[in-house]
Amino acid sequence: MNIHFGADYYPEHWPEERWETDAGLMKEMGLKVVRLAEFSWHKMEPQEGVFDFEWLDRAVYLLEKYGIKVILGTPTAAPPAWLVNKYPEILPVDHMGNTHGFGGRHHDCQSNPGYRKLCSQIVTAMCEHFKDNANVIGWQIDNELGNSHDDFCNCPSCRRKFQEWLKNKYGTIEKLNEKWGTAFWSQDYNSFEEIFTPGLTAAGENPSQMLDWRCFHSDLIVDFAKAQADIIRTICPNHFITHNCMDFADTVNYYDLGKLLDFACQDQYPLGYWFENCKMSVYRAAACVDLVRSFKKEPVWIMEQEAGITGWGKMGRLPKPEELPEMTLQSIAHGADCVVFFRWRSCAFGTEQYWHGILPHSGIPGRNYAELKKMIEHMEPVMDELTGAMPKNDVAIEYSYRQQYALRSQPHNDYLNYQNQILKYYSSLYDKHIGVDFVGEKDPLEKYKLVIAPLKYVSYAEDAERFEKYVGNGGVLILTMRAGVKDEFNICNTSEPLPGIYRRLAGITISEYDSLGQVSLVVDDENSKSEENAVKATAALAKAGETAAKEKEISEKFSGKACVWADLIEADCGAVSLARYGEEFYKGTTVVSMNTYGKGKCIYVGCEPDSELMDSIIARALKEADVNVGFRSDEGVDICTRENENGIFTFVINTTCEQKHYFGVGGSLVYGEDDEEGILRPFCVHIYKKDRKHG
Ligand code: GLA
Ligand code: ZN
Repeated sequence: MNIHFGADYYPEHWPEERWETDAGLMKEMGLKVVRLAEFSWHKMEPQEGVFDFEWLDRAVYLLEKYGIKVILGTPTAAPPAWLVNKYPEILPVDHMGNTHGFGGRHHDCQSNPGYRKLCSQIVTAMCEHFKDNANVIGWQIDNELGNSHDDFCNCPSCRRKFQEWLKNKYGTIEKLNEKWGTAFWSQDYNSFEEIFTPGLTAAGENPSQMLDWRCFHSDLIVDFAKAQADIIRTICPNHFITHNCMDFADTVNYYDLGKLLDFACQDQYPLGYWFENCKMSVYRAAACVDLVRSFKKEPVWIMEQEAGITGWGKMGRLPKPEELPEMTLQSIAHGADCVVFFRWRSCAFGTEQYWHGILPHSGIPGRNYAELKKMIEHMEPVMDELTGAMPKNDVAIEYSYRQQYALRSQPHNDYLNYQNQILKYYSSLYDKHIGVDFVGEKDPLEKYKLVIAPLKYVSYAEDAERFEKYVGNGGVLILTMRAGVKDEFNICNTSEPLPGIYRRLAGITISEYDSLGQVSLVVDDENSKSEENAVKATAALAKAGETAAKEKEISEKFSGKACVWADLIEADCGAVSLARYGEEFYKGTTVVSMNTYGKGKCIYVGCEPDSELMDSIIARALKEADVNVGFRSDEGVDICTRENENGIFTFVINTTCEQKHYFGVGGSLVYGEDDEEGILRPFCVHIYKKDRKHG
């Protein structure tokens, strides 16, 4: 499909006389697809069972005249007032027992059978109506599923569903009591029907129950989406199905949701008004697309790419000259085959009056339109060649919803955060221009040279074997603090000292630990050169039959700070010490260790390293894994590649408003003005293409 750019369009917000002007401007700009109708339930079904698609037919037909294809959104994120009045039981109930009302969006309970039926009816009617319309190419199910459902629904229907889900998982109530540890505080249940949803308690909550509660809700939302996907697949077998994900949002497990989709989409707003200084850090912007690409391990679409100032009640910053194309190209660099801008035109009314579009409120094209138009013109031929291209990354970071859920309930201290931890490792790799894939807990690891599994806190019994196999065959694995603490039911492991099931692989014992919070501890290079360490290292290396050169590297510099958490590591089961604490009673105790296991290495990091310590750990891991650090640049330049049968495409992106330099990138320039080789003006992007056969 050679559709590479589009817009989210709301014709129902504008007089019909304007539509043709819009279609003409879109065509002139190079847009070839729009998403329509994802919030237009009332317009399509003004009363129960009475459908009206005429207005939408006219819009789809007009767009077709201008060569613009259509993706239809199912409107189930915004049930209309007639529906809520008639069936008030579909409103969600929060954990305090309060019912959330009409007036925003997502005021729905996704387990309510009556609501499910109404959703099926509108989706079926849409599918039947548009199945033979050649200008409709695909569907977006709902909109940002999980958005606004952070406080899960606790209504009677959800309680029943939760009980069913638990019965299905545990079989008997005795097993549930055991796996939830209900002996604590007299929480035993006599039957599944006695189980409550975790609402407001007088004090505390059960971690095992909370983990199940979050997993249940993710499954519920996936099931809600599946009901719609099934209808669309049956009635419109030639249309694609997708969904707009929100990167690190955790309500829905996107690996699971991804199974329903032909491809995943991301909604990308790097200048969101809610970020510090109204800007997401650039490494995070890159990570967001990398993450969504990893859910299906295929290129993605951006279904909503920022096209102007963001804002609801408050507003973010104005994208600077060339910043909109730069942010768009960063999305493409990290795996987007098509970018749809949100939104076509800033809306005059409603909650999102200040969420600016390509066109301002006046509808007169300005800088946003001109800059994006120019970028599209130059990118169009590159996009044709790039379609389907993926990065070939040597490094993967495990991203697990269960760790996120478990650590959300029990964060240990105010500074420990699973996603931040993931992003710390990511950003150190990003700074070195090392591309990263994210992997789920069950994904194959063989193709990676280095795998990082931060905070492997909740584990299935088979997780240890999976990692042992990977490392045994020559992989390099980084495990961190809190690995092996809990079993899959969120119960503390008692059968052996930490790191529990990973002890053999890591070759260490954690004798004690300390929840540092805001305190940090010096990691002193001098200590890592201690005689004892060198002796141990030499012995271990000799055992592994390594060279003298490697022995020397063992005493390389590792300094910086241990933050958030401190494991006191005894490298007693074969590991060597890479770094030690340098102060207080911790002084001399290992904080980072490395074990040779089979043909590979397991590095264990017993703290959250500050950026200095992190950089030396990552540098060391890359060296052990034989991963090449090829590209170099000033700070603020994103360099990454995608490749397919047409060639290898390297993107060099200046994410700043200052001039920057880069080195080590070869090929012929297919995008961007090359005033002087290796120099990028503010927010400029260069794309190089290399033939595969010339390497
Ligand atoms: C999200 C939604 C859109 C819109 C934008 C701007 O990404 O999917 O419907 O609300 O945010 O707020
Ligand atoms: Zn509910």
